[in-house]
Amino acid sequence: MTQIVAIAGSPSHPSRSYAVLETAQEVLANQGIRLEILQVRDLPAEALVYGQFDHPAVVTAAAQVTAARAVIISTPIYKAAYTGLLKTFLDLLPQKALVNKPILPIATGGTLAHLLAIDYALNPVLGVLGATQIRPGLYLVDNQFQRRADQGVEFLDPDLEDRFTTALAGLVGALPVAVPSP
Ligand SMILES: Cc1cc2nc3c(=O)[nH]c(=O)nc-3n(C[C@H](O)[C@H](O)[C@H](O)COP(=O)(O)O)c2cc1C
Repeated sequence: MTQIVAIAGSPSHPSRSYAVLETAQEVLANQGIRLEILQVRDLPAEALVYGQFDHPAVVTAAAQVTAARAVIISTPIYKAAYTGLLKTFLDLLPQKALVNKPILPIATGGTLAHLLAIDYALNPVLGVLGATQIRPGLYLVDNQFQRRADQGVEFLDPDLEDRFTTALAGLVGALPVAVPSP
């Protein structure tokens, strides 16, 4: 099965930006593609805050990202940017962690006002991590979707659901071809 890793950057749980990933997980599972969600808030706070690159949990999480064939990054918008929590983790990734991987940035926000935060705040950081295949970002406004009681989200705006499905299809279409082992 194809391995895509999603980094969930909200400090909250339950979380809207996390629930979006659960729905992505369902959609991709229906295509036989495995999406692993890595929730940054589950990593040891001290390791993140003190920049402990060599903490075993950080090493494992960074290896998970590096080994992925594609990466989704989902964050709530906080103060017109991605979360500080997400940044603590991105700072601990190896310099070229995102080389040769299609990347899909996703942000959820309370208003449309920060629609461009993916472009002006998140994407430059992904570029520094070696990402050259950043897919068009997906921005979801809170009033366009709701968290389901169990897991995942329900889209209240059909156009958003279309954009979500298209964004996932684009990511899958961009996956590097797996080289069969000899
Ligand atoms: C501390 C904080 C700051 C926020 N700042 C913004 C903001 O600048 N712009 C915006 O559109 N929404 C902002 N929001 C709203 C969240 O981005 C939005 O509700 C998001 O969907 C929450 O996702 P989560 O449940 O995954 O944390 C803020 C929320 C919090 C808690």
